[in-house]
Amino acid sequence: MGFSTRQLWKFTALAIFISLRVTFGTDTAPTAAQTTSVIVSIPSTLTYSFPAGFFGNVSENFIDTVTNDSTTAGLLSAAKNASFVSYDQEFLQIIGKSPSLKLIAQRTDPFAVEAGIWVPEKNQVWFSSSTVNNSGNVSILDLGTSEILTPNTSIPIVTPNGGYYFNGTVYITGQGTATVAPCIYAIDPNTYETTVVVNSYFGIRFNGPNDVSWIKRGNNSYMFFTDDPLSYEYSGGELPVLPNAVWRYDPQEQSIVPIVSRADIIIPNGIAVNADMTKLYVTDTPPAYYTGSPIPATGSPAIYSFDIDEDLFAVKKRILGIARSGIPDGIKVDDAGRIWTGESEGIVVRSPSGKVIGVFNAETLLASPDVPIANFALAGDTLVVLAVQRLWTLKLAQMVVSRERYQF
Ligand SMILES: *[C@@H]1O[C@H](CO)[C@@H](O)[C@H](O)[C@H]1NC(C)=O
Ligand SMILES: *[C@@H]1O[C@H](CO)[C@@H](O)[C@H](O)[C@H]1NC(C)=O
Ligand SMILES: *[C@@H]1O[C@H](CO)[C@@H](O)[C@H](O)[C@H]1NC(C)=O
Ligand SMILES: *[C@@H]1O[C@H](CO)[C@@H](O)[C@H](O)[C@H]1NC(C)=O
Ligand SMILES: *[C@@H]1O[C@H](CO)[C@@H](O)[C@H](O)[C@H]1NC(C)=O
Ligand SMILES: *[C@@H]1O[C@H](CO)[C@@H](O)[C@H](O)[C@H]1NC(C)=O
Ligand SMILES: *[C@@H]1O[C@H](CO)[C@@H](O)[C@H](O)[C@H]1NC(C)=O
Ligand SMILES: *[C@@H]1O[C@H](CO)[C@@H](O)[C@H](O)[C@H]1NC(C)=O
Repeated sequence: MGFSTRQLWKFTALAIFISLRVTFGTDTAPTAAQTTSVIVSIPSTLTYSFPAGFFGNVSENFIDTVTNDSTTAGLLSAAKNASFVSYDQEFLQIIGKSPSLKLIAQRTDPFAVEAGIWVPEKNQVWFSSSTVNNSGNVSILDLGTSEILTPNTSIPIVTPNGGYYFNGTVYITGQGTATVAPCIYAIDPNTYETTVVVNSYFGIRFNGPNDVSWIKRGNNSYMFFTDDPLSYEYSGGELPVLPNAVWRYDPQEQSIVPIVSRADIIIPNGIAVNADMTKLYVTDTPPAYYTGSPIPATGSPAIYSFDIDEDLFAVKKRILGIARSGIPDGIKVDDAGRIWTGESEGIVVRSPSGKVIGVFNAETLLASPDVPIANFALAGDTLVVLAVQRLWTLKLAQMVVSRERYQF
């Protein structure tokens, strides 16, 4: 869950609502699998050079840019109705010639918002709902049958958020509540036996572990997670005491060590590692655009990468992207080093060098603009879109993530 999503959705509400009416008419539960397959390619030159006479609103999306050039206006209008907006041939190769999104479920609850954890051994994707009234749910999509299950965990997963699968265990962050400390849970996907892995730093509560990733080095494994004021912001939890940080948990050494300070990332949110586990990616999610105030906010709604050095610290910070709209929330890095993020525009895919190569367009995927797409799963050659009240799957033309990185 993005720290500032609640403020941000308001700005995009009108534009998204109009487009959804065009695409879907009324918001009714599907009787059969609904598919959407429109691709629009936008020349990438348009991402930095527009014909004279244009207005782009930072509270809306790129495809909502207003222009007096009729050809460009026609292209953007078609893109508003397309689930696949491409800026590069490479994106077309990922989605293939006739991509077809399949609507697995649609509910009135915000049931599919966060995590997006591929569990290859079980052919499942685990995900979490939005937190409503200090509660939320973990659900499991069976990729084989398209059924959605609820895990009967041995202890409750309180206000779940992000997660990861590694070495036979599902890890889910919990924002906590006024009475339950924010923590990270470890769940056996076969028995649902659940334990708390971390919940404090020398007796002080975390602010709200948001998202988590694991790496292996030699015979050892290490967990990295982001901590930000989720608990206070969304779950009735305590005011933050610890400075926000990215932390490393070392089960061998039995230690917990900060590796990125809030001076470097103000509100660390999504976290990911690359396939060879040499790089760490973190999204920073301050509400940083100048919406009303001429005083620049600190920090950027941006994606950063670090090298993970020999001592398991995060070094060589690089910025590699700024969200065009809203914040970059959930993040996954595929086997080719491409960076996928949940942003207000939808799921944005960037090349390793930072070029936006395509977007899975939120304007066609969400049922309601209340909450943007925060996260998704890359499950082998399948993209699972957590579109809040809708759950979609899409068979890609490439195997984007192989299972090796999740096994020890
Ligand atoms: C930008 O978009 C928002 C949301 O649609 C709208 O409220 C605002 O008036 C727009 N700003 C301008 C300058 O058009
Ligand atoms: C389009 O042209 C009209 C007339 O010249 C101008 O008033 C308007 O501001 C232009 N629109 C944009 C988005 O630049
Ligand atoms: C949007 O796409 C659908 C499905 O391809 C098509 O039927 C409809 O005419 C399109 N609407 C617009 C405004 O382009
Ligand atoms: C969680 O599950 C319960 C029981 O199915 C349901 O009533 C509630 O609305 C769900 N919450 C969310 C946020 O999806
Ligand atoms: C949340 O709590 C409020 C106040 O008790 C209640 O009106 C509302 O129906 C609750 N919402 C859900 C989804 O349970
Ligand atoms: C959940 O597990 C408990 C024991 O851990 C059992 O008593 C209960 O019946 C289970 N509930 C469901 C719905 O399977
Ligand atoms: C990993 O463990 C194996 C078996 O215990 C051992 O032979 C090997 O040297 C270890 N590798 C490293 C890098 O420590
Ligand atoms: C991997 O999981 C096995 C089985 O639970 C466990 O014994 C082992 O310690 C784990 N290894 C690492 C490095 O996490």
